[in-house]
Amino acid sequence: MMKYSFALVITLCMGLGHAQKFDGLAQTPPMGWNSWNKFNCDVSEKLIKEIADAMVASGMKDAGYQYIVIDDCWQIDRDGNGKIVADPERFPSGIKALVDYVHGKGLKFGIYSCAGTKTCQERPGSHGMERIDAKTYAEWGVDYLKYDWCFTEGIEPIAAYTAMSEAIKEAGRPMIFSICEWGLSKPWTWARDVGHLWRTTYDIRDWYDGEINGNFLGWSIILDKQVGLEKYSGPGHWNDPDMLEVGNGRQTNTEYKAHFSFWALLNAPLIAGNDLRNMDANTIEILTNTEVIAINQDKLGQQGYKIFDYGDSEVWCKNLYNGDYCIILFNRASSRQQVAVQWEMIAPELAADSFALRDLWKHEDLGDFKYGFNAEIPSHGAKMIRLKKRYKH
Ligand code: GLA
Repeated sequence: MMKYSFALVITLCMGLGHAQKFDGLAQTPPMGWNSWNKFNCDVSEKLIKEIADAMVASGMKDAGYQYIVIDDCWQIDRDGNGKIVADPERFPSGIKALVDYVHGKGLKFGIYSCAGTKTCQERPGSHGMERIDAKTYAEWGVDYLKYDWCFTEGIEPIAAYTAMSEAIKEAGRPMIFSICEWGLSKPWTWARDVGHLWRTTYDIRDWYDGEINGNFLGWSIILDKQVGLEKYSGPGHWNDPDMLEVGNGRQTNTEYKAHFSFWALLNAPLIAGNDLRNMDANTIEILTNTEVIAINQDKLGQQGYKIFDYGDSEVWCKNLYNGDYCIILFNRASSRQQVAVQWEMIAPELAADSFALRDLWKHEDLGDFKYGFNAEIPSHGAKMIRLKKRYKH
């Protein structure tokens, strides 16, 4: 008896201590596209195929975007065996054929479900169905699962997300596991071994700074909520301040550039949320700015952080693998103003150093600067610069 209980305790401990998630994935923040921000429930195989085509044709694939993720509303029912059923009108060829199409383009495929009894749009959820759903996704060739948090009354988040993480591992196909629990239980404190990224807030909207009941947030409000979370993020486990709104039409080009700059600096997943089939030149320029994307994908994987707050202007910094720094000068005011950075804000020992600066939006070398740098920034604008050390005093 003693022997058996001992064996049981050992097995339980191993089970608890074991990291469930697939390791080695998302070593840099995932990049891709998701249907929700622009299309909501209006998803179909026709749309997804056209988006995959556009991701290649627009140059986004070459810039590093990889995952095509269908969000809510692709699913309609379960069959007699409990297997999830895709909407046959919108996905007449079935999800497997669609995954094959996306893979044929050299891209990866992501899908959506929910830890609750229903998804947020009241489609069948995965609660209690984790193993059969993970197995189905694996059979279809899915590479990424976004897992939401609606209809979860009485459900405990760590257990719910761990159950799906384990089910994915058991199904045997490597999938990025994207936890979408809106930050309620502080997933940054527990999800490192459960998923590859976790939402830190409620949903983004295509606004600079609007907010409705705390549920729908403009990106600058989300930005404020990231302060202090930087220490929880790193290769394979990222804070997710939600998907991009660049190109969806309700912000100025200056605001979209600032939104993209910050999402890059925060090591956010760069998941575009616009209609890739109809992008104007400004939108393509933003989404495919490889100098900004390189900041996001920098292999050190250290999230950027705020180093100075003057009220309506701010200075943010991100440390890079090769010893460079990336700086954002941000103007929150409603008119143009000068924003300044002193190198000592990065670290006191850098105070009198000289750096060679490069403007990552103008793609222009600005010259060498000692002590600091300042620039006039338009309202809601961000200047993003890369600092290379020249010499030390
Ligand atoms: C929640 C999520 C969103 C989106 C919708 C879909 O609101 O936070 O990102 O997935 O559900 O219904």
